[in-house]
Amino acid sequence: MKLTDQNLRDLYHKGKVSILFVCLGNICRSPAAETILRDIVAQAGDADRWVIDSAGIGNWHVGQRADHRMRVHAIRRGLDITHRARQVCADDFSRFDIIIGMDSSNIDDLRDIAPSADALDRILHINRWMGNVASRYDYIPDPYYEGAEGFELVLDLLTDALHNLHHTITH
Ligand code: 4NP
Repeated sequence: MKLTDQNLRDLYHKGKVSILFVCLGNICRSPAAETILRDIVAQAGDADRWVIDSAGIGNWHVGQRADHRMRVHAIRRGLDITHRARQVCADDFSRFDIIIGMDSSNIDDLRDIAPSADALDRILHINRWMGNVASRYDYIPDPYYEGAEGFELVLDLLTDALHNLHHTITH
């Protein structure tokens, strides 16, 4: 059974919530998501209630820092992305309460590698928290082949969605 908002609130109020963000390469969207949520929980003063990490579907960039363009756009907002890329693995489905994909292709790929029915239930689409009616997007678009606007868009969409996520889980 898919995790409900109440299930997520229960995890938080009983101890900790562990979240793994997943995108294709783990050098643009998911390390940005990880860094933005770390910043939100630090500002909210509840960092000890969260375990936050990110990983990629592919292994092309394993061990590398995030894409230079992503880091430049993030640092302008005071966000220092220090993550080194790694590939998602079967163990992640037992180590993390929720695994959040950035688009429907990430979700399909995660479903293919989920080792159990329980693991499938932990896979959630980021669009669950993208409730802003003003937004034209219901996923986080891959910025890799885009210009500066693509990276800014990723940061705007993630900031909005992750504030929603934090609010929903902590209230
Ligand atoms: P990400 O962006 O999934 O947001 O990290 C990409 C990074 C690299 C590639 C694709 C997407 N790539 O094909 O190498």
